[in-house]
This record gives sequence, structure tokens and C-alpha cells, in this order.
Amino acid sequence: MPDPQKDIIRLRKEIAEHDRLYYKDALPEIDDQAYDRLKVELAELEAAMPEFNSDTSPTQSVGDDRLDAFESYRHRKPMLSLDNTYNTDELIDFGQRLYKRFPGKSLTYLVEPKIDGVAVSLTYEYGKLIRAVSRGNGVEGDDITPNVRGIRGLPESIANAPETLEVRGEIYMRHSEFERINSEREAQGQALYANPRNLAAGTIKLLDAAEARNRQLDIVLYGIGACEPRNYFTAQSEIQENLKNWHFPVLEKYWLANGIEDAWKCIEELDRIRPKFTYPTDGAVVKLDDFMLQEEAGYTSKAPRWAIAYKFEAEREETLLKEISLQIGRTGVVTPVAILEPVQLAGTTVSRATLHNEDEIQRKDIRAGDTVLVQKAGEIIPQILSVNLDKRPADSQPFSFEKHLKTLGLEAEREPSQAAWRIISKDDPIRQQRSLQHFASRACMDIENLGTAVIEQIVARGLVKNLADLYSLTEAQLLDLDKFAEKSAKNLISALEVSKRRELWQLIHGLGIPHVGKQSAKDLEAKFNSLEAIASATEESLEAIDGIGSIMAQSIHAWFADVDNRILIEQLKAHGLNLNSARQEDGTGILAGKTVVLTGSLPTLSRDEATQMIEAAGGRTSSSVSKKTDFVLAGEATGTKYVKAKKLKVSILDERAFRELLK
Ligand code: IVH
Repeated sequence: MPDPQKDIIRLRKEIAEHDRLYYKDALPEIDDQAYDRLKVELAELEAAMPEFNSDTSPTQSVGDDRLDAFESYRHRKPMLSLDNTYNTDELIDFGQRLYKRFPGKSLTYLVEPKIDGVAVSLTYEYGKLIRAVSRGNGVEGDDITPNVRGIRGLPESIANAPETLEVRGEIYMRHSEFERINSEREAQGQALYANPRNLAAGTIKLLDAAEARNRQLDIVLYGIGACEPRNYFTAQSEIQENLKNWHFPVLEKYWLANGIEDAWKCIEELDRIRPKFTYPTDGAVVKLDDFMLQEEAGYTSKAPRWAIAYKFEAEREETLLKEISLQIGRTGVVTPVAILEPVQLAGTTVSRATLHNEDEIQRKDIRAGDTVLVQKAGEIIPQILSVNLDKRPADSQPFSFEKHLKTLGLEAEREPSQAAWRIISKDDPIRQQRSLQHFASRACMDIENLGTAVIEQIVARGLVKNLADLYSLTEAQLLDLDKFAEKSAKNLISALEVSKRRELWQLIHGLGIPHVGKQSAKDLEAKFNSLEAIASATEESLEAIDGIGSIMAQSIHAWFADVDNRILIEQLKAHGLNLNSARQEDGTGILAGKTVVLTGSLPTLSRDEATQMIEAAGGRTSSSVSKKTDFVLAGEATGTKYVKAKKLKVSILDERAFRELLK
């Protein structure tokens, strides 16, 4: 017996879980279309059974991206959602409704691209950018000012502006930047981001603004929220003009249409030209242009009645999965990749798709020889959505990770608590290559002239087996390699020499200890000051560090307990590498040993600048307030960190007092 009430409850729960994955974790598990279908299903059931309606249903709200680590601010004007459709008839219905509402009026619509980014609201007071807030739950969002300031092209101040202005738009990441970050992650054996939107969403919520700035974000503005004085603008198209005159990055193209049929023609044109835009788009937004008419048309609880989003279907094609190949990352993590019969999707040829890990393959029961449905929407990395079981060959076999590894002669194991298989043998040449690539990369020892081509050769010739062997390379050995002349050999030797003096965290990061990224490497340096101290630290003392959890603590401890790694460290020491924190040597700064928490926007200093000043004075920053915090450096703040500092009686300094202290 169908039980609609049960279905409503199930769907609400399911959608709430997908909302959490999308808004809070930036790691959605289903694509937009599948998500929108769940919502339509729920809305239909709710319409049929109004007695079960609830204000908390996901059909009545806009999701929530707020995280505990951030302070929340209330939007002066709520950030609403849009009703959306994939269906032309529904677009025409939308036009009909407005036509009936305003009989005999010729209605002008503005047709804009719908940008597939992360919504943001920027507050300008007297022309100065004072705050950037995420959409949050539509009413209140997270203060992400430090991560937003400095986004390319975003003006800090605007001339001849209204007293108070909320400017709204989307933060996004260009495809080239998305690919750069993902290929770095791939080289380091880290999980890949599925699409630029997730990566942009993850980046604006990084606690370390410096880290966020290592990733290039972009922004485009298309609307306003609150504005004082009111009635400053009279139409949406006027906003576009004003934003442009204030030098905001704006929509590359928008259309004014007379009536909904005309709007549809504009949408078709948009679909044709959108691959040329710098931002990813997933549809069109059709808005009544005139603000007076907008107000008259009004709002539902979550969306305006004067606008609708028409979304484009993602492109999908069936193709043959020829084989599942295994790739190896810097720590020996094995990532499965689907090798496909090339297929045209969203303007590019797709011949590979990541399969993430063993569990993902099992969940979808993906096998070599299968015909699979591949999708490429905003995603650069194509995804395999499902297998067409009707086309599965009779002799098809489930994919076995274990067997496949054996056939390749790779010895790997999978920890029960983890999704990934990892190569055990350190002698595996591919593993050696990945580990060297990581060590030499910019975020680690930054060794110029040590690229992939060189690494491949020195490993293949057995010249370098571990990281320390790099420092035994001689000019004569290098001259023997392909494309090496005296000058390039000399350059590499001197780059290696320079790398010996890198900061301790760069070395820690470069060692490739599983789970230890750049920020954790910095935290380890700040706490222990030397590689030897880290090597002899107990799991408990590692876990006591803010930001280091039990898995990472275990992993660090196990890494240093490994005899080969102990030998490696002795070798690095013998080669004269810096194994100590530079800060320890001149640990006389006024903030030596002190932990500072930053909160709110400071009047003149950016978060980066304040962090640098703290570090230069020997201190370190932390993201959360605890009893161990020495003081909180607070901007204009009333948020949670401020409250917690008050509660724990931790001193709170403003920028002026902080500058005084450093004098
Ligand atoms: S107007 C009250 N215009 O899509 C209406 N939104 O699905 C406010 N979006 O919350 C939105 N491009 O984050 C509008 N040209 C555009 C847009 C756009 C992307 C986002 C925005 C909105 C969401 C709704």
C-alpha cells in the first residue's frame, strides 16, 4: 500500500541530507537534476496532502550553508531562492500568471544567465566594502569577508554610492583554476573535487584566508538586496548598468525581452553562447524588469513570484567503459579511473572518468565492458551516473580491486576504516615518482627545474629511490639524462641546494605523511619546532593540537615509527637540510609561544596581514577560541568567537591595542 505520509517524511529526510552535503560540506552526492526531481516529487505529494504541510519542509526553505566556525550575520534583506523549471510549458505558465496579474500590460522581462556558483551578499557602507556574507539560511549567513576581499576585480570602494548597499552575486572558479588545483591534488594522491562549484564553495569556507588566496576565485554581481535610501533603483536593468559603472564584474550579456515568448528566444540564444562565458552557467533567470511590478507581484515564503529560473539539462551520453585503470598518488593511494570509448559531451571529448574508490565502484556495480551513462554538466570531471544493465555482456565479472592489483604486480592494502587502497612497497617506481613530485612541488620544497620528465628518468635509472637520494645527485649524472645541458644540470643542483633551507613546515609537508596537508604541517611546526620533536611525539600530544584529529595523529605517529622513515630523516639531516623551525632560533618575539584567534573584519588590516604580523612576532594563529588562547584579535565583532572569548575570560584586543602591543 502506498503511504504518502511515509513518503513525505522519507523525502524530507533525504533532501535535508542532500542539502547538508551541498551547502555545508560542498560535496554533493547527486547532481542538480536528480536533486530537483526529489524536490518536485515532494512538492507534488505535499500539494496533494496539505494536511502534512510544514514550514520546515525543504520545499519551504532555501537550505543552509552556515558552519560553526564562522560568525553569522543577518542579511538586511533576506536572500531568497528561485522557483525553477526544466520545462518550457512551465515557463509559459509563469508568463501567463503574470499576464493575468497585470492584464493588458506589455511586460518587459530581463533574461540573465544563471550562474552556477556560490551566492554572496556584499555590504557597502558609504561606498566601502565592509562585509561579505554567504547566503546561509537566507536570513542569516556566515561572515566570509577575509576570503572574499581581494577576489580579482572586486572593488573595495565604489564612488557615488547609496549610503548602504547590499550587492549580490555569485563567487565561482574558472575551469582552468579548477583543473590546476585538481591536477595538483591528483599528483598528491588527494581526493579530487567533482566540479568548480564545490571547490569554490569549499574555498570561501576555508578558515585560513592565506590558503584561500592560494586558490583563485572570481566573482560576478547581478543584483542588490537592501539599499538606503530606498527606491534608489526603479528596474533590474538599471541595476546592471549601475553595477557596471561602479566597476563590478558584471554579466557578460543579458537581454530585455517583450513578453515571455520573446524571453524564450533569448534563453535559446543564451544556451548557444554560454560556453564562451568565463563563469559556469546552468540556466537562465527570467525577471520582471520593473520594480513596481515586482513588488505588486510579491513573494511566496521562499521565492519571488516575479522571477523564474529555467535550467538547462546536463548533457549525458552512453558509452562503453573499456577498462578500469588504477592510478597511484604520492602516498601510494590507488585511484580507479574509467577508460571510456571517447564521446562528445558539452563541447569536449570525454575519454576518462574518475571512479573515486572501491566503494563507489561497488555501489554502482561498475564493470569493464559495461555501457555506462556519462554526464558532464558544470563538472569538468565527467561522472558515471549509472550502468545500462540491458547492455551488460553475459560473461561480465564484478570488478575486484584486489585481483586487479595482483595482475599489475602491485602490493597494496586497504585499512578497514578507509576507502582507499594504498601501495605498501616503497620501491614501487610509480609511487617513488609521485612522492618526489610532491616533495618538489611549490607547496613543499619548491625545487625549480625538478619536473615530471626529470623525475621519471632519475627513478627509471635507479639514481633516486627516496627523497634523500635527490641530494646525492651529481652534475655528471644529470648530464647523462635526456635534454640536460651543463646549464640546466647546474641549475638543478643549485635549486636542490637552495631547497635545503626551506621552512620546516615545507619539509614536513613534502615528506608525504598520509593525511598531513599544508596547514597541519604548519601546526606541527608551531607546536614542536623541530622534526625530531615531532618524530618522538606521542599520539596524545599530536592529537592535542587544534586541527589534528585521531586519524591524523595515528598516521603521523605510525609514519615516524617506520624504520625506513627514520633512516630517511637521518639521511636528510646528513645532507644538511633544515630540520628546525626558524622561529625557534629567534624565539624572542613578543608573541613567542602565544596563540591568537582572529575574529571579525579589522578596520585596516586584512586577515593575511594580521596573521603575518602575529607570526613575525613569534606567535601563531588558531581558528577556535579555547582556554589555551592567549588573546582574541577582534574586529567589529559580536559573533560566536567573541562571545566565547568573553565567557572564557580570554583577553580581547582591537586592532589599535594589537598594534600598540607589537610596537
Ligand atoms: S536572482 C530573489 N539572478 O540562483 C531572487 N539569482 O536558484 C534572487 N543565481 O539564490 C536571485 N544567477 O544564488 C538571480 N542571474 C541570477 C542568478 C541567480 C545565479 C543564484 C542565486 C539564487 C539561486 C536560486
